[in-house]
Amino acid sequence: MDNRPIGVFDSGVGGLTVVRELRRILPQENIVYFGDTGRVPYGTRSRSTITRYTQQDIAFLESRDVKMIVIACGTASSVISKELGAKIKVPYTGVILPAAQAACSLTQKGVIGVIGTTATIRSGAYGKSIRSINSACKVIGRDCPLFVPLVENGLIEPQNPITRLTAQMYLEPLMQEGIDTLILGCTHYPLLYDLINDVIGYSAVLIDPGKETAHFVQNFLTTNNLLREEESPAVCQYFVSDSADQFTATASKFLGADLGGNVQQIEIEAIQGA
Ligand code: DGL
Repeated sequence: MDNRPIGVFDSGVGGLTVVRELRRILPQENIVYFGDTGRVPYGTRSRSTITRYTQQDIAFLESRDVKMIVIACGTASSVISKELGAKIKVPYTGVILPAAQAACSLTQKGVIGVIGTTATIRSGAYGKSIRSINSACKVIGRDCPLFVPLVENGLIEPQNPITRLTAQMYLEPLMQEGIDTLILGCTHYPLLYDLINDVIGYSAVLIDPGKETAHFVQNFLTTNNLLREEESPAVCQYFVSDSADQFTATASKFLGADLGGNVQQIEIEAIQGA
């Protein structure tokens, strides 16, 4: 057993969709979350900037004595190379491999769609991961930059005309390619789950990387005998790089519940990345 917390980070508040899944299936685990709200978004930035930010985020979580790191951000996950991964001092996972494994086991035709930020799609990380599992799979990527601001502005109702039109524009080309599985490769997209299902007429199975990653963490901790075994209720601690109040105000949208812990602002630029 290991009573240390799980460390989770994201470019901002979106990674709370992953915390939501972790808390659902691992309610006894303590969580330390870092949201880089002062430097969000990552998805529009260059690979080198995203890598630098990601290294600082990881170094911050390492300094909090976590037993595992979960890179909840699709964009940050997409820049984790073998070299960068080798520098991380504790076991870690991004969201890409767990989602790719789920997509490969669920696709019937081997045609998988991936949507994400511009940086995630540009990285080709999902394609590489999927083809390393099944080289016969065809992967069609599409960046959907308007989804993040739409979600952050609360336009997530399945009948919202603006978000529906946007989704049609992004998703119709993928449907024309005959995808039967669609990875929602950005923290914000699970909030559009019902809308996307409706727009594509349930023609593809939707994969929520947050859910798949939470299961991956559960398996990892169980297999390696690292689950927390204390009887006291789990504690969540949140750190952000911009206003704590602003984070608290939007958090429940992504978490679907109360934060259940304190929020503290830190100076992420002062952290020396790995
Ligand atoms: N968290 C990011 C992701 O999952 C979306 C927001 C951003 O661009 O930073 O890719």
